[in-house]
Amino acid sequence: MVYPVELIEEVRLRNDIVEVVSSYVKLERKGRRYFGLCPFHSEKTPSFSVEPVKQLFYCFGCNKGGSVIQFIMGIENLDFPEALRMLADRAGITLPEPDDNEEREKARIRREILEINREAARFFFSVLAGRDGLEAQAYLKKRGLTEKTIRQFGLGLSPSGWSELTDRLKAKGIPESLLLSSGLSVRARGGELVDRFRGRIMFPIFDIRGNIVGFGGRVIDQSQPKYMNSPDTPVYNKSRELYGLNYARQSKSRKLLIVEGYMDVISLHQAGIDYAVASLGTALTQMQAWILKKYSEEVIIGYDSDSAGQAATMRGLEILEKTGCNVKVLVIPDGKDPDEYIRNNGPEKFKNLVDRAISLLDYKIRVNNNMHNMDTVDDKLKLLNGIADILAGLDNSIERELYIKDYAAKYGISTESLTSEVEKRRKKQQSVSAGTALVRRPVGLGGKIQLPVRMDPRYGELEYMLLVMLCNDNSLLGMVLDRYGPDGFRDQGAKLVAEKLFGKLADNKSCVLAELLTDLEPDIASCMVRIAETKCNAENIEKAAGQVLDKLELLKLEELQQQTIERIKNEKDGLLRQQLGLEFSKRAERIAELKRLS
Ligand code: CTP
Ligand code: MN
Repeated sequence: MVYPVELIEEVRLRNDIVEVVSSYVKLERKGRRYFGLCPFHSEKTPSFSVEPVKQLFYCFGCNKGGSVIQFIMGIENLDFPEALRMLADRAGITLPEPDDNEEREKARIRREILEINREAARFFFSVLAGRDGLEAQAYLKKRGLTEKTIRQFGLGLSPSGWSELTDRLKAKGIPESLLLSSGLSVRARGGELVDRFRGRIMFPIFDIRGNIVGFGGRVIDQSQPKYMNSPDTPVYNKSRELYGLNYARQSKSRKLLIVEGYMDVISLHQAGIDYAVASLGTALTQMQAWILKKYSEEVIIGYDSDSAGQAATMRGLEILEKTGCNVKVLVIPDGKDPDEYIRNNGPEKFKNLVDRAISLLDYKIRVNNNMHNMDTVDDKLKLLNGIADILAGLDNSIERELYIKDYAAKYGISTESLTSEVEKRRKKQQSVSAGTALVRRPVGLGGKIQLPVRMDPRYGELEYMLLVMLCNDNSLLGMVLDRYGPDGFRDQGAKLVAEKLFGKLADNKSCVLAELLTDLEPDIASCMVRIAETKCNAENIEKAAGQVLDKLELLKLEELQQQTIERIKNEKDGLLRQQLGLEFSKRAERIAELKRLS
């Protein structure tokens, strides 16, 4: 799908970057910029900046940067057309329907699958309410669910026959291909389509807009597998959805409580804890962490306290912490899950547990503590070492001191010895990080190292600088074209950008950096903003651009000199050799002149 450039530019202009970023990041004004904690890497002091005048963002910590479009692409994990659509919606601009046939086809399939899912959910609901649903109803009742809750979550029952749903949908004229891609039907060995879910309590999975994107199905007896779930489909991606978020995001509470299962979410909502969501048995993903961060001020992990749950808690904590969430851990006694706990102890007791959710640090220490019983000196030593390791990770010295006092008292260790252990570790850490400081690379999304754009080692940076300067002052166009036209660019990425920029300027239009960045790859956009922020701050742009052009000319001349030397060596014809020699010395003069200037 290709939109007209004017339309893209209108979408950009009607979305003020400060406003857009503010709905994800708390910004504070400092001079002509705004600063906040970078949403793209984890940090404690703000190095993420937004420039209202230029409509650009840039993080001095991880070097990510761009226009409002790259910001949305990064933070919402969208591709360019999706980000554009989101910003257009926000500004009330109607984009034309995708005219790309393939895109249109995909959108149609998505719409139809959502419709099929809705139809299936209605059917499951009616089966549960009907004569065949009595046993399932009794089961749900035994588990304490009310009618109202069953309706709120749209629970149902899949019939135990082989293909009741499939047949029903087929009779409505839905083609087999769609039934298969919805995940509701599977092909049996005989070749015919049958139902994926049979004789199970059905849990529709809603996305935040309230569409039904998939299903989970639980057996009523002890048979295996306990749950079956929709596979990934064009409308469902299990690493992206959080069960219950459609309700939880409307909660008055600014917290989100993340639990493991369908039944936990449902029980919690019924008990008035309307900010519970579930990651549905899979390990928490980075994408889910982003979503949790977006919809809450505090995330509480409420996984089972059995050992599998404990491991999941640790992993989840790490992802959430890295994503910059304010995290706490709910400790449920006796290895129970939230649903069971509420059933046995009631909602009020559970709410008390939520209020007493412990900090990340306390949780780590508690886990460390559980690994050792305190019977022998050796155990005590191990415990002390574990605590010292954890406390050494705290950067704030006041915090460190307070915790040291606390834990020393709690575990009967002297404050002095714990302090000295912690400080020993910090010294070691510092010397390690000092050694790596020079090669430290910014950490991008998902903790992956964000590699800089591969640039031509000699020309790349200078060529990008030239382009940035030209954006900053369009009147340099004549001078740049005279000395360094688009054909002369050596760096492949810079060359593409150059063609675009020269094209825009040739149409006799102006072009600012944010506009040029709009539909560039996020990596190239980041690279250009980094260069704009760090290399192009000269007062006199014209003079600075002249110097860059000089340097580029020098590089090219030196290259030519090298080639000429080779040619002279191999040239048999004396006259030609002489001519080459003449060229060589002329160029040498210019080189000397350029070197004098620089
Ligand atoms: N799960 C799954 N497949 C399984 C087991 C579990 O997909 N075979 C997922 C489900 O999303 C389930 C979650 O993991 O909700 C948690 O599993 P578990 O604690 O076993 O189930 P509960 O939700 O607690 O269900 P119940 O209380 O009904 O046993
Ligand atoms: Mn359970």
